[in-house]
Amino acid sequence: MQNLTRLIKKVNNLWIKSQVPAQKLTKIKKIDRFLIILICIIISIITSYEFFTQPIQSFNFIILVFINFFEIFVCCGVLVYISKKEAPRINSRQIFLLIGLLLTVQILKINIKGISPLSLIIPPTLIISQGMGTTIALAWVSIALINWPNFQTGMNIYLLLITFVSSCIVAILGGKIRSRAQLLQVSILVPLGAFIGQYFFLGFDNNSLYNFNLQNIISKQGNIISDSFLLAALMLMSTIFMPILESIFGLVTKARLLELADQEKPLLRKLSIEAPGTYEHTLLICGLAEEATRMIGGNVDLIRTGALYHDIGKLHAPNWFIENQNGSYNPHDELDNPWESAKILQEHVDKGIQIARKYRLPKSVANFIPEHQGTLKMGYFLFKAKERDKNISENNFKYRGPIPQSKETAILMLADGCEAALRAMDINASDEEALKIISKIITSRIQDGQLLDSNISRGEIYLIKISFLNVWKRIRHRRIQYPTAKNNSFS
Ligand SMILES: [Fe+2]
Ligand SMILES: [Fe+2]
Repeated sequence: MQNLTRLIKKVNNLWIKSQVPAQKLTKIKKIDRFLIILICIIISIITSYEFFTQPIQSFNFIILVFINFFEIFVCCGVLVYISKKEAPRINSRQIFLLIGLLLTVQILKINIKGISPLSLIIPPTLIISQGMGTTIALAWVSIALINWPNFQTGMNIYLLLITFVSSCIVAILGGKIRSRAQLLQVSILVPLGAFIGQYFFLGFDNNSLYNFNLQNIISKQGNIISDSFLLAALMLMSTIFMPILESIFGLVTKARLLELADQEKPLLRKLSIEAPGTYEHTLLICGLAEEATRMIGGNVDLIRTGALYHDIGKLHAPNWFIENQNGSYNPHDELDNPWESAKILQEHVDKGIQIARKYRLPKSVANFIPEHQGTLKMGYFLFKAKERDKNISENNFKYRGPIPQSKETAILMLADGCEAALRAMDINASDEEALKIISKIITSRIQDGQLLDSNISRGEIYLIKISFLNVWKRIRHRRIQYPTAKNNSFS
């Protein structure tokens, strides 16, 4: 019986440890919170406008107005809550975009009588799904459609259904789109699909072809050609304006990340020429971090781009970093001042942030620069300083942080720590030896409290170790020289 209790306790402990700790939410300023609530109230008033335009008939009528207002207000709150839950680092500008689009849809719905819900709901869904992900886009679609049907005015239920299905497809595809070309395809294929759906469910009015003009495109509800045409035009416009929205609202789309990860980008070319050692280190880290992120189901595109730019600050003084020294000359030896050397190391973070600002890197990419170093100690220079004065403050030899705030930046920190050790490892080292070194480095980071804010679970740490080992196996395989036979036939 005791054994059984012990086993249950052990399983329970393992379960608790494997759970992902709750992630801290980004704080939203009071003024922003006030504005968000104000916009939600405006949306609720606009949505229940029909009640306000009618004379008060009875007490029940007042209650109905209140329920309608309250329902929409709660829906807006739910949308903000889901977005914060799904993306804890969402900022107030992005929440403004979410509810701002909701407000725009409500205003247009009332002012352009008869406009198709397809044209109003799908283009914003495309923007949200790319910039904030599928879940938030699906939540937005649901909230935007909840108060759409007004059956008294004859809204067709099939049209609403087609809008809902098309929006869900756009929300799912939009979260996966990895290039502007795919975006263009979606912008053409979804309106085509909506047209076919409307053709089967709503039928086709032959007069549509004869009455096809600009006025009808915008306002003639039920004209399936104009509805689909307007939808395609608005989706193409969203595609064109996406880069502007990205920079205004700090959205990071997969397409943008892939563009930034292009190694022909001037900043990365500069790194490869002026700091070739750092560039090589960056590429190896990319491999480690990508593999680990794929294994735990994180954002691979984000970590690839973040890894490429994480040490960009070393451009300010490449020779002061060991990977760019050719083995003979180390300027730190000549400087012979651990305090100054520590400042130079910290500078690679500070300058990196400045360069990120100058080149307008998205915030989520720039976050990799300070967070990959966290508040780690600069061990070598701390040791050197302690040799001179035992009472020195360790804070002078620690990076200023913050510690990793996401799984991706935490993985990069671990990859950064393991890279040099794996590179230096003997080619004949066994898998067990490699895993031991990886585990040692990762454990030291955990014990140092560097992963406390990263939302990473113990189960994920295990997967990260295994994936680093897999990359090490690949590196080892690459380094094994193939025997060259005399009569080598390159078949
Ligand atoms: Fe670094
Ligand atoms: Fe690094």
